Amino acid sequence: MEFSTVSANQLGITVRGLIPQVATDDEIRQLHDAVFEHKLVILKNQDLPSPDYLEFARRFGDVVRYYEPMYEHPEHPDIFVSSNVPKDGKQIGVPRTGKFWHSDYQFRSDPFAITFIYPQVIPIKNRGTFYINMADAYRRLPGDLKREIEGTYSVHSVRKYFKIRPSDVYRPLSEVIREVETKTPPHICPTVVKHPRTGEPVLYISEGFTVGIQDGDGNDLGEDLLQRLFEATGQLDDSCSQPGTHLVTPEPGDLLMWDNRSLIHRALHTPTPEPTVSHRVTVSDGATLQPV
Ligand SMILES: [Fe+2]
Repeated sequence: MEFSTVSANQLGITVRGLIPQVATDDEIRQLHDAVFEHKLVILKNQDLPSPDYLEFARRFGDVVRYYEPMYEHPEHPDIFVSSNVPKDGKQIGVPRTGKFWHSDYQFRSDPFAITFIYPQVIPIKNRGTFYINMADAYRRLPGDLKREIEGTYSVHSVRKYFKIRPSDVYRPLSEVIREVETKTPPHICPTVVKHPRTGEPVLYISEGFTVGIQDGDGNDLGEDLLQRLFEATGQLDDSCSQPGTHLVTPEPGDLLMWDNRSLIHRALHTPTPEPTVSHRVTVSDGATLQPV
């Protein structure tokens, strides 16, 4: 197994020569450490059947199945499928997922530790995922903004980007909204959290899932503060070209794994109907997010 850093401006590290099915405990430990040190690890030249993919992910934590079944892989429900390619005339998984800044499961109190993405069909044009390292983003925040958010809490919710399910057709919207708010109520988390593995302060907000910010007594601090934080971290730049925003474009055979509590990400979707299929697996390590 060989690690090689990507160019200075880019995010992550690539790994060649790893065979997941026969990876030693030492190799798993090195990969685990690399995820938290470099935030993103790209395993090159992989050819993994789904059961082996799941077995590999299990060595990094508890595999957590997504709470909405419409994303499930038909034979391996622990795999979340993003796809615009029907199989036997049937939609598999959900098309065009994640085209907004977010961290996976940030709208819940138990966000995943590591996200794995294994692209199966890669479009030729406009492919990839943008990332922002929110530990770096916190370090780069102007001092006055840092002071302004000291001791504050952010409110996270799925409500802005919850996707209507096939079973919601003909249901009153108010009933769907009520169900979403009951099943995934907004949760409150320190705005700056201490990363459970690295101890780094991480600005734990995203344009997709963070819907409010409040002081320690629960008083709303207003939309303007949140917008300034999104602005300062590059999340309002639709061209995704600010320093600190990294585009990663996978090649066939790449398997990506990243630190879901440090990175926020946003899918780049092709505007043309090019086929794209991706298999995601997520693992938890049971850690809760604490203030710095
Ligand atoms: Fe995501």
